[in-house]
Amino acid sequence: MKGIILAGGLGTRLRPLTKVTNKHLLPVYDKPMICYPLMTLCRAGISRIMIVTGGNSAGEFLRLLGNGREFGLKHLDYTYQEGEGGIAEALGLAEYFADGEPVCVILGDNIIENNICLAVENFEKQREGAKILVKEVVDAHRFGVAEIEGNHVARIEEKPETPRSHYAVVGIYFYDHTVFGKIRRLKPSGRGELEITDVNNFYIAEGNLTYEILDGWWTDAGTFESLLRANSLVAETGANKVSPLNEQPVSPRFPR
Ligand code: G1P
Repeated sequence: MKGIILAGGLGTRLRPLTKVTNKHLLPVYDKPMICYPLMTLCRAGISRIMIVTGGNSAGEFLRLLGNGREFGLKHLDYTYQEGEGGIAEALGLAEYFADGEPVCVILGDNIIENNICLAVENFEKQREGAKILVKEVVDAHRFGVAEIEGNHVARIEEKPETPRSHYAVVGIYFYDHTVFGKIRRLKPSGRGELEITDVNNFYIAEGNLTYEILDGWWTDAGTFESLLRANSLVAETGANKVSPLNEQPVSPRFPR
């Protein structure tokens, strides 16, 4: 399985912090933001990784990460997204890198307490289709929201005004090679972007999307509030813990 980190976009919700630099280079406690999703993939044993970047300071990723030696990698791939065409458009740019293999896609501003080892293992067994991770939150309207019926996801709504559940879709996705054909079928949403939620809904329509509940805390870091929360969570408890693995019971509290 290959890993793709999406670190493009203009980070408009964080202006003026992002006026001269890329959101994913901003500090989260003691490291630039991009280091956390990179660690998430490395901890799960994924070693062939591409970073899709864009906007301001794109060249600085190379200066910061090089070939990923500090993360135990031999090589890192990079590609460039022009403008702000959305998460799915950014993923489409990595088609040549995926080269027919399954991929684990992680948004560059998503930080997790634990790890995704079990989900990676389960998706390798699944062989085709897609897998999403979900997490119970109190502010579901900020995210893609999964309506769960029994052991499957009935549908996902992107930032609904009235969420039908508390399950936010985490920015970590697993896809088979058909994802790139699905991206080509997308139409821009109301905000003018190709939405990853529409890709996931294509898989649901095919009956080919599974889900798991992520354990430990999860946060994005794309707004002032969530960036502050990310800093506090990492400072207080640390991120990307090797152990405990995903064997913990699901937290009964809403951790956000
Ligand atoms: C994106 C996705 C959303 C997902 C979220 C996770 O939102 O569109 O479905 O729940 O990432 O961080 P955005 O960061 O574009 O607001």
